[in-house]
Amino acid sequence: MKAQFFYLLTFLFLPIFSAAAGPRGPLLGGWQPIKNVKDPHVKEIGEFAVSEYNKTSKASLKFQNVVKGETQVVSGTNYRLVVVAEDGGVTKNYQAIVWEKPWENFKKLTSFTPVKA
Ligand SMILES: *[C@@H]1O[C@H](CO)[C@@H](O)[C@H](O)[C@H]1NC(C)=O
Repeated sequence: MKAQFFYLLTFLFLPIFSAAAGPRGPLLGGWQPIKNVKDPHVKEIGEFAVSEYNKTSKASLKFQNVVKGETQVVSGTNYRLVVVAEDGGVTKNYQAIVWEKPWENFKKLTSFTPVKA
């Protein structure tokens, strides 16, 4: 009976603990610079941010490019990007934060604020 109980504990809890410690390593929570902001996926995230901002704020910004960015490992990835977009003929910089869970095809704009160029 005791042995069985121990077995049960091991099988129930070991996977939970190892999942919590995870293979994700020590980077969890830290922001890492994006080395290549010309990467098509990074551009896609930037364009998504501008187009979401367009929708939610009834703006009509035209995405130009991403000039800087960082990522953070969460459940998925947070992208914190400096995006250049055109606002009625004027080019401005914005900081956009996008949360992506690629395995669920999930993307969400969590923040979009103008920054000084
Ligand atoms: C935002 O809206 C404007 C006007 O509808 C459009 O011209 C522009 O391409 C949109 N930008 C993005 C990134 O979808």
